[in-house]
Amino acid sequence: MTERIRPVTDILNDPLRNKGTAFTEDERRKLHLEGLLPSGIDTLDKQIDRVLGHLESKPSDLERYIYLMGLCDRNETLFYATLMSDPARFVPIVYDPTIADACLSYGHLYRRPRGMYLTRHMKGRFRKVLSNWPIKDVRAICVSSGGRILGLGDIGANGAPIPIGKLQLYTACAAVPPDGLLPIHMDIGTSNAALRADALYTGLREEPASSDEIDAVMDEFVAAVQSVFPGCCIHFEDWKGDDAIRLLARYQDKALCFNDDIQGTASVALAGLITALQIVGSTLGEQRILFAGAGSAAIGIADLLVETMVQEGLSRQAARERIALFDINGLVEKRRRDLNPSQARYAHDGAPTRELADAVRQTKPSILIGVSTVHGLFTEQVVKTMAKMHERPIIFPLSNPTDKAECTPQQAYAWTQGKALVACGVQFPDVEVDGKTFHPGQANNFYIFPAVALAIYATRPKRIDDTAFIAAARGTADQVSAADRDKGMLYPQQKNILATEITTATRVAEYIFDQGQATVERPEDIRAWIEAMTYKPVYAGA
Ligand code: NAI
Repeated sequence: MTERIRPVTDILNDPLRNKGTAFTEDERRKLHLEGLLPSGIDTLDKQIDRVLGHLESKPSDLERYIYLMGLCDRNETLFYATLMSDPARFVPIVYDPTIADACLSYGHLYRRPRGMYLTRHMKGRFRKVLSNWPIKDVRAICVSSGGRILGLGDIGANGAPIPIGKLQLYTACAAVPPDGLLPIHMDIGTSNAALRADALYTGLREEPASSDEIDAVMDEFVAAVQSVFPGCCIHFEDWKGDDAIRLLARYQDKALCFNDDIQGTASVALAGLITALQIVGSTLGEQRILFAGAGSAAIGIADLLVETMVQEGLSRQAARERIALFDINGLVEKRRRDLNPSQARYAHDGAPTRELADAVRQTKPSILIGVSTVHGLFTEQVVKTMAKMHERPIIFPLSNPTDKAECTPQQAYAWTQGKALVACGVQFPDVEVDGKTFHPGQANNFYIFPAVALAIYATRPKRIDDTAFIAAARGTADQVSAADRDKGMLYPQQKNILATEITTATRVAEYIFDQGQATVERPEDIRAWIEAMTYKPVYAGA
């Protein structure tokens, strides 16, 4: 066997220290890299240009995703410098929607591990297994079972890219330092028989664990995280609906944790509503809100709206009375016998109806939120009925992807002569109505969870509660300029995302300090303090 004289290439194979062609002459001499790299020396900017050229030549976003993940494995600084040069352009490539394709073929695309892969069978040993992670100061873990990924349902171990992508967005959008972030796939089995039969599937070929087993596994996992990585925040992502709700309720008061699908989603919807109400010049407590859909998204948003109205001074009961639900079986009213407890809280007196337009006439909503997954549910009649009752109806067809949206922004603006205030679950193109250009908002969770993560990173709180997500929503909404609001924009511009997230993080950090939850001393200037600890994608000296 050939004996290696010196592990000269170690630094070139270490994504955290590798600079590729940007190693200076001095560094090359000092690190014994002379002759191991092309002689031309590049700046980071030039390297980014080369990366952009490579991306340009790729035939699809999935190929761009694969290329960027390879880059992250080779040179993390260059990877983040590229992403942070234009997050709005790269988020759809490293995350939604492209990541859905990456997940579908994960076992086939697999090249090398990233983060950790735990299974239910490691119960009893989680502490020991977590100790295998080489970095000790882990500040945030994103953990997914792959039980309900985007619109793909249960894809088990093929969901592994999700926590990876979510944490990459912490850094790309809010400059959370990447070295303390740990993505974990928790394999609890999958109900997806086709995947279990796929020869290249990388996970357990087992039916999913029962709720009791999941709870037992996660009890030990959460305790192990607290012991191996003290102060680490656990972000639950893309667990099956009831697992997600149950796990958040189980640990919210016992560990530093949050669930983006529940709390981040509700917060971003609230942010859009706050902006819309700033335009209308009214408060949430003065509105009537109708949800089309009474599933997990509707309940999550409704519950956060109630907390917000309670903050405004309404009683919890009065706040709930301002919210009505309409689902596949019609208006949620007191006589319905098919409601679960979280839906029953929003059941009021009312005449049974299966017609949404009828429900609109009955409940007279000023805000209509679509989380039904039913394309076309917001008909011309529904929207016009609202517009007859309210000068500026607020209409959020949030179902996604695009072919599930309850109506298009074009329709909502056209049916209301441009009066509607609209936000959608996906980014629709600008719309022109009567010579005026409207820019429909996108209720994208990326406005919220990276900022919350940055605030948690800075303040190291003991716990994070739902109200922190109200602070994040208010912080986001307050950054939409008057000129942008005039164009119908309900969210801040995506091109300034880093500055936006730092401002939102500052608001969340203020809240955490005010609540006495921080474990670090409150600085004089919270924003400057947070900004100073953000990650800068530049090469360190040799
Ligand atoms: P879910 O499956 O839990 O709930 C769907 C609900 O729609 C159920 O209550 C069902 O009864 C109702 N429904 C079905 N057909 C209906 C009909 N014809 N009329 C009225 N209601 C009907 O789904 P989940 O998780 O609540 O998500 C719903 C949608 O919201 C998805 O498309 C999701 O992508 C979207 N969403 C968007 C978010 C965003 O924009 N940030 C965040 C979260 C969800």
